[in-house]
Amino acid sequence: MSYPLFNQVPTSLKTLYTMILIVLGIGYVFALIQIYEVQAGRDGRPGLSVEDIRIAYSGSKADTRLEIALKGPMAGMLPGVERQRIFDWVRKDKASESAYQADIKPIVETRCKACHNGANPHIPSLISYNELSKMVVLDTGVSVGTLVRVSHIHLFGITFIFGFMGLVFCHAHMRSRVLKNVIIAMPFVAIILDIASWWLTKVSTPFAYVVVVGGGLMGISFAVQWLVSMYQMWLAKTPPPREGS
Ligand code: HEC
Repeated sequence: MSYPLFNQVPTSLKTLYTMILIVLGIGYVFALIQIYEVQAGRDGRPGLSVEDIRIAYSGSKADTRLEIALKGPMAGMLPGVERQRIFDWVRKDKASESAYQADIKPIVETRCKACHNGANPHIPSLISYNELSKMVVLDTGVSVGTLVRVSHIHLFGITFIFGFMGLVFCHAHMRSRVLKNVIIAMPFVAIILDIASWWLTKVSTPFAYVVVVGGGLMGISFAVQWLVSMYQMWLAKTPPPREGS
């Protein structure tokens, strides 16, 4: 037995399919608004860009308060090598306590302690690891916990959405069987690509482009399945010739 084409589907089932597609379509619009609301403008510019996506997952590379001070008013308080050591500590050592004890503490004690010892209420005290750490709050992007949560929600959710859409779209007639199968499989490949690159963008930032490609592929397959199904259910004039699919 083969899967019936749309012209062989009873009206009641077509009505059900149509309502599912309409509600999913509205849901998709809200999903796009949600993406825009959450992600746009992270890079300081209006609108949504790949840079916004990169910052969301891998964090901002913007300077911390310590770096801003050392590049600005505090630049002259210590020799260049020591200043560079502090920059490296922030970036390469991720402001770790062990590296602080080994290299940074002595610098702070000789170069900064005279003023940053807490005696003057207008100058922040920086003589302990905890105090200095407050000046190096690095934005490392979405936490692993959040990623785990949104990943599993999306994997389940998207599978149901495209599972339903695909079941409806299977009734469609397409001249190319290969193309039809590609359109059915595409959103599932896209969600795996998309979610994998959320994680990979944390490690290597060019994957932000894959996030965009994954989202785009999903959008394209959604639009094609939606439009073709709706058109063939209600508008297609002559029923297409019977063909297996
Ligand atoms: C001669 C005194 C003096 C020395 C030495 C000094 N600072 Fe400062 N520092 C100040 C003062 C005064 C301010 C406050 C400036 C302001 O807020 O306008 C300041 C501000 C800062 C800030 C900015 C805090 C903020 O609110 O963002 C940082 C960070 C800082 N210093 C780090 C250092 C480091 C690191 C050293 C050692 C390499 C150092 N300073 C050495 C006097 C000093």
